[in-house]
Amino acid sequence: MLSLFICLLISFSWNLGRDNRGRQRIRLPSKRFWQKQRFSDSFWNKEQQRLDFNNNPLISSSLKALSHWLEDLGPSNLCQPDHRVPSQVADYNSLPQQFRDFLLHMRCRTYPLLVNQPRACAGKPFLLLAVKSLLPHFERRQAIRETWGRAGVVCNRTVATVFLLGTAESSDHFPDLRGVLGHEAKTHKDLLQWDYRDTFFNLTLKEVLFHKWFTKYCPQARYVLKGDDDVFVNTRRVIEYLKGLSEVETQDLFIGDVISDAGPHRDRKLKYFIPESVFVGQYPPYAGGGGFLYSGQLALRLYNVSELVALYPIDDVYTGMCLRKLGLVPEKHSGFRTFGIEEKYRWNPCVHRNLMLVHSRTPQEMMKIWPYVTKPQLDCQ
Ligand SMILES: *[C@@H]1O[C@H](CO)[C@@H](O)[C@H](O)[C@H]1NC(C)=O
Ligand SMILES: *[C@@H]1O[C@H](CO)[C@@H](O)[C@H](O)[C@H]1NC(C)=O
Ligand SMILES: *[C@@H]1O[C@H](CO)[C@@H](O)[C@H](O)[C@H]1NC(C)=O
Repeated sequence: MLSLFICLLISFSWNLGRDNRGRQRIRLPSKRFWQKQRFSDSFWNKEQQRLDFNNNPLISSSLKALSHWLEDLGPSNLCQPDHRVPSQVADYNSLPQQFRDFLLHMRCRTYPLLVNQPRACAGKPFLLLAVKSLLPHFERRQAIRETWGRAGVVCNRTVATVFLLGTAESSDHFPDLRGVLGHEAKTHKDLLQWDYRDTFFNLTLKEVLFHKWFTKYCPQARYVLKGDDDVFVNTRRVIEYLKGLSEVETQDLFIGDVISDAGPHRDRKLKYFIPESVFVGQYPPYAGGGGFLYSGQLALRLYNVSELVALYPIDDVYTGMCLRKLGLVPEKHSGFRTFGIEEKYRWNPCVHRNLMLVHSRTPQEMMKIWPYVTKPQLDCQ
């Protein structure tokens, strides 16, 4: 029966493949058109294969149950250090400490919210500014509040601002800043803090936890701008741009300083070094983590899909991976300058007026440039 069906299919496509004079048009592929599934020894790739397998709707649940039984699942409570890691990562003992910390906790995504602002989005903001900050960066946050991050109405649209924080622990040699932080949280009501070590490799966690928070407390925000606390954002320009978008353009909006064709750095001295025992492969297109702009709808979908993507130690690459899983590609926009602008334009208000986001600016630089950028009588001919 099956072979009969295949015969029919072949003769059918054979007929399709001839033009009206009966000449053959079919071109046979020179290479195999299917790809054998490759299994990798790198830890992240293995974790991702496990997630793909468990979430594959074509694999029946009984088979999954069997595979669970066969597989060493690691810790039953995913937030205990993962005891499989040292034996599964060949060069574990020679990896820099931050990799060991990352790998041991890679499966844990649930950390308690210590400081919440359940009403941050009560005004159903048009734009939510979500700023990645670190607990000791009081001065940067205050400069942002007084300049581009001022919450309220801008260009006839509501803007809300939240700062995303983890903890600064004494084991990482931070002084105890909880008292001051409590005061700041009460005064400004714009801090979100989760109970995890705020390190470079945990920025991915910050992203996932923020999207979880967003899904619960801010799902009606139309747009999100997520960025670092040392970028300068031209909030008006961003809002004017968003006002000009059609409903269709909004749906999958994700723009920033997009990097394509990148892959992991293998030089141990670089900040973005990733050993082969952790990851092999190319990176999907991703927007530099300094700042990007996307729709609230997409933020909800990014949270959903993040459950299907293993945590990766570089947060902007991780967001690119999640977008790819959704079948989306971030779009490059020349208004996003996460790698800075030419020095001679550093203080040029007209250049800033046409930019959406530029990296990096100190709090004092933000205070200095903001009045120029917002002055209505600025003549930029
Ligand atoms: C302000 O925005 C609202 C919709 O958000 C619109 O109805 C109103 O006309 C706008 N006002 C001005 C002065 O543009
Ligand atoms: C991330 O945070 C968790 C929870 O605080 C911590 O155990 C882990 O060491 C951190 N990872 C890194 C790479 O700092
Ligand atoms: C996210 O997933 C949940 C559960 O599968 C679903 O109900 C919801 O509609 C999804 N949300 C989006 C925005 O895709």
